[in-house]
Amino acid sequence: MKNKQKKIGIVGLGCYVPKKVLTNKDLEGMVDTSDEWITTRTGIKERRIAANNESTSTLAANAAHEALKNAKMKPEDLDLVIVATITPDMPFPATSCLVQDQLKAKNAACFDVSAACAGFVYGLVMAQQFLANGVYKNALVIGSEKLSCVTDWKDRNTCVLFGDGAGAAVLAPVEDGGILGSYLGSNGSLSDLLMIPAGGSKRPASKETVDNREHFIKMKGNEVFKLAVKIMSDAACNALKQCELTVDDIDCFIPHQANMRILDAVARKMHLPLDKIYFNVANYGNMSSASTAVALCEAYNAGRIKPGDVVVLDAFGAGLVWGSCVIQWQK
Ligand code: UT7
Repeated sequence: MKNKQKKIGIVGLGCYVPKKVLTNKDLEGMVDTSDEWITTRTGIKERRIAANNESTSTLAANAAHEALKNAKMKPEDLDLVIVATITPDMPFPATSCLVQDQLKAKNAACFDVSAACAGFVYGLVMAQQFLANGVYKNALVIGSEKLSCVTDWKDRNTCVLFGDGAGAAVLAPVEDGGILGSYLGSNGSLSDLLMIPAGGSKRPASKETVDNREHFIKMKGNEVFKLAVKIMSDAACNALKQCELTVDDIDCFIPHQANMRILDAVARKMHLPLDKIYFNVANYGNMSSASTAVALCEAYNAGRIKPGDVVVLDAFGAGLVWGSCVIQWQK
């Protein structure tokens, strides 16, 4: 059965970040923080903030247009659109349906994935299943977030960390390489470490939830930090093991970009040279599901990924959830 499955690879990439730049210096005027603290504790220098007339779906559509152009495909060719996000335009309908409408991808089935920072990796692996089995011919997977609208701009513990953006990938059958293996995991018992407490069915919006600022991201940063290092290294190694590869086989490592110190620690734990890792956390901060998607697109555009290269995506976030995916770039 497995032998009959098609090889599925990425045949187009695109990304979009809003124009407005919010620097650490700007944040110094908003909360009790400093460029020095943010830079040394996180590696972040600036992040992008969406305009009022931009939402997760419009960021996603901008990235998707570029990915489709790159794949030389028309929107109506698409069979499936998956949007990974924790900041949907609204509770329903799915943001992927709104993106479908903006793209005019009228022949696509659409759904959203809620797997926080690992959402893009989850989306890729889900799309791969549909395509490998021949259910669909192609898929568009997008990681898109407008985190600025769920960021508490009065909380220095979190507001310095996040930014907005979107990245998109078109998946289709390839002759060689493609997604070689993946590893997904989760641990819901640690959901209280990183969450937006209100706004869902458990704590619907009320004057009390608004007054308590419960519609914003809450994170126990230090605990998340320690788990991120262990879980990200384990996830990548497990995904590599699935395809009988080792860390030495990695040509380009695309991790979730939450904190430079996390990435340094992951690299040390995996014995992975830093020059094999693509970093953009300094420019954008943590964009949740969009982080790996934008980093992959930028790494490709910068010539960091060549035909035949082994690329490893690795992400970790609220849930907790994690996912890693090994892709050999088609020749
Ligand atoms: O995307 C999902 C995955 N997310 C992550 O992986 C994020 C993981 N966590 C982190 O990146 C780090 O834990 C943080 C960057 C959030 C915090 O760094 P830390 O080294 O863990 O610092 P901490 O939370 O232990 O706080 C150290 C101190 C505290 O002061 P006291 O209590 O020691 O006096 C904080 O109040 O730093 C203080 N602090 C700040 N100071 C200046 C916290 N935020 C700031 C700030 N500016 N922005």
